[in-house]
Amino acid sequence: MDEELLELKKQALQEIANAQDSSEIVQIKSKYLGKRSQISRVMSSLKNYSIEERRTLGQICNTIKNEIVEALKAKNNQLISETSYSIDITMPVDEDRGSLSPITIVGNEVCEILEKMGFAIVSGPEIEDEYHNFDALNIPSTHPARDMQDTYWLGSHKLLRTHTSPCQVRAMEKYGAPLRIAAPGRCFRNEDIDASHENTFFQLEGMCIDKNISIPNLIYVMKSILSEIFDQEVQVRLRPGYFPFVEPGFELDIKCLICEGAGCSTCKGSGWIELCPCGMIHPNVLRINNIDPNEYSGFAFGIGLTRLAMMKYHINDIRVFNTCNLEELEQFGIV
Ligand code: PHE
Repeated sequence: MDEELLELKKQALQEIANAQDSSEIVQIKSKYLGKRSQISRVMSSLKNYSIEERRTLGQICNTIKNEIVEALKAKNNQLISETSYSIDITMPVDEDRGSLSPITIVGNEVCEILEKMGFAIVSGPEIEDEYHNFDALNIPSTHPARDMQDTYWLGSHKLLRTHTSPCQVRAMEKYGAPLRIAAPGRCFRNEDIDASHENTFFQLEGMCIDKNISIPNLIYVMKSILSEIFDQEVQVRLRPGYFPFVEPGFELDIKCLICEGAGCSTCKGSGWIELCPCGMIHPNVLRINNIDPNEYSGFAFGIGLTRLAMMKYHINDIRVFNTCNLEELEQFGIV
């Protein structure tokens, strides 16, 4: 028996010495030390021997086992240090590591501000259904407002969401009232592309539902977000705007930060920049989503994150966001 075991050890050490890579090491390990290996078999048969034999045989087995384990370890380390792709920690770090997109940066900033005000960040699918994108937002199939949103239809009542507003519906379904959510995300419209229009862009939806929510609450929240984003007190104004899921609906403008209201090319001479559609949630929308409009009211807003990033980083062509042209991206500090 002893000789047999010693022969086995010799064989194992020989195979280890000849191993070419770590997968062979794994195989050798299982062959000589695995459950069905000869050593394991001898070990489990020890109970059939006398105490004396048990002790010597057990010792031999353990010594052989340890020797094989050590040889395997040493060989494995040797193989690792020999591989050509081992890591060279002295190599200089590549400085061009890229960066977050400005859209992601402003999106994160807005989310952080809203989180401090108790809004939960949620998300929804980019492939939406007609019900969440339109019907549940008070836009039935016969409504002309559907035409305002050039939709990519996918068939079977599915579509690429045209805005982040379906996230309002999903949040109402899931959480009911009271509710405070923000949902940043990608939206799609079948637009002709030019310097200020893209078929793929980002919005951030905000919604607050509670008892006694009114227009001053909306204005306060909007003003706070925008002042923090632009690092200065911004002046806002509301104009009437039409969206079937809010009543009254507004276009919120901020006083142009470049000319301070005097009129310049950025604000097209008006002194104001249209930034954020918003309004008080239409009672129909609350009702469709099982919230009693006599008990609760709320406001909703949609911030164009792409537009916001363009303003904050002075990017004058929306197309650069989706380009793969590094030179163009670098010009705006995007990569
Ligand atoms: N979802 C609207 C759009 O994209 C914007 C909006 C959001 C308007 C919330 C009012 C309230 O056109």
